[in-house]
Amino acid sequence: MKNDKTQKPANPIWGGRFDLQTSDNMETLNASIDFDARLYTQDILGSKAHAKMLGACGIISEAEASMICQGLDKIQQEIAENCFNFQKKFEDIHMNIEVRLSELIGDTAGCLHTARSRNDQVATDFRLWVREAIDRLNVGIRNLQAVLIEQADEHSSSIMPGFTHLQIAQPITLGHHLLAYIEMFGRDRSRLVDARSRLNECPLGAAALAGTSFPIDRPMVAKTLGFDKPMTNSLDAVSDRDFAIEYLALASILIMHLSRLAEEIVIWSTEQFDYIQLSDRFTSGSSIMPQKKNPDAAELIRGKAGRVFGALHALLVSMKGLPLAYGKDMQEDKEPVFDATDTLEISLSVMADMLKGAVFNKRQMVNDAGKGFSIATDFADWLVKELNMPFRYAHETIGKIVKLAEKKSCNLGDLSLVELQSIHPKITVEIFSRLNIENSVNTRTSYGGTAPSEVVAQIDEARKRYLKD
Ligand code: ARG
Repeated sequence: MKNDKTQKPANPIWGGRFDLQTSDNMETLNASIDFDARLYTQDILGSKAHAKMLGACGIISEAEASMICQGLDKIQQEIAENCFNFQKKFEDIHMNIEVRLSELIGDTAGCLHTARSRNDQVATDFRLWVREAIDRLNVGIRNLQAVLIEQADEHSSSIMPGFTHLQIAQPITLGHHLLAYIEMFGRDRSRLVDARSRLNECPLGAAALAGTSFPIDRPMVAKTLGFDKPMTNSLDAVSDRDFAIEYLALASILIMHLSRLAEEIVIWSTEQFDYIQLSDRFTSGSSIMPQKKNPDAAELIRGKAGRVFGALHALLVSMKGLPLAYGKDMQEDKEPVFDATDTLEISLSVMADMLKGAVFNKRQMVNDAGKGFSIATDFADWLVKELNMPFRYAHETIGKIVKLAEKKSCNLGDLSLVELQSIHPKITVEIFSRLNIENSVNTRTSYGGTAPSEVVAQIDEARKRYLKD
């Protein structure tokens, strides 16, 4: 077989120096077309920008550039209409498109790759793709924030227990609780914006790694593709995947937030809590227990965190220790990013729809809010304010009162004045009228606090910050 010149080249793009055909298993290992076909729009955009620049700089003729662009438009249409024949033997999206371009326009297709390599090409495609994904996630989070804001507004004064250590801690308002998530998702959005601005530099023109001797215009290509500027260093341009790692890192934080919210929904929907009623549309039944209604959507979102964290880990490990510049290891960058993006898009959208249709059980929440001596801190604060006691001493005094109530199996408000005075003689009857869960919540008016008046102000602020555009 060796040196048999009658054989077809191993590959129409790079086969010149090869004698033998690629092994079948190597072809399977090497091919990325099954997943990187998703980059077709970005690949075509990048190629058109490159071709136009080559034409404008006189590296190819304007006629050749426009023929290439027309061919690429045709390919865009073929792929969009599902009549493009993707072939594994052409490895990836770049070569599949180039091979098809040569079928459509002949030898002129061969001019497109002047002053370019697949290394800068794929880096550009992928940046464009991640940039769009960032924009989609930003919209997805915004929609979820809008739903949370609506629910928070409806429940600005619905009282529920606030927890620390998952033990009842102090009464809060549900609106306040939901606002906490609105803040988390706000930070996620700002991380998206940061990552977007850092990734928005164009690798194209770096060629394989060293740049090119052709008189190309990198700023022109960068501008056409909506990048702020060309990347500064050509080696860095082809070897950097920080943007994808940063994206997966922020995606991990985002899914972590979603999983915390999902977990609360799971807990709240249990018989024991009974704070939330989920629509049938986001729950499912059991094949054996006819009575069951399980919060599967919330559980799945909670569980999906694992795969997004895994995506980040996978790419970090693939990149670790890679010498400059490009290495084929880097082809492993795409699947984790695609998978994490799909996971987040569906999770955000289901979470928003599920919360929109969720009904909160205000009676049950307010009923629990007074349990567990949840206004003990208010008792202590009362001693500080009315009796001028140092807080530490007030804390200890109320601790003793809690112990007494526990012994009597009653709540703080059920203790008699005599009993309270047996712990501290200066406690007056006023304590009874002042200390209840409504007052506890209404008086926590400190900035960012749980009082309905404060919650309404925070909702106003959230609308301005997150929903104005
Ligand atoms: N499919 C490849 C990737 O995703 C494209 C770049 C190939 N470059 C190379 N020198 N073989 O990374």
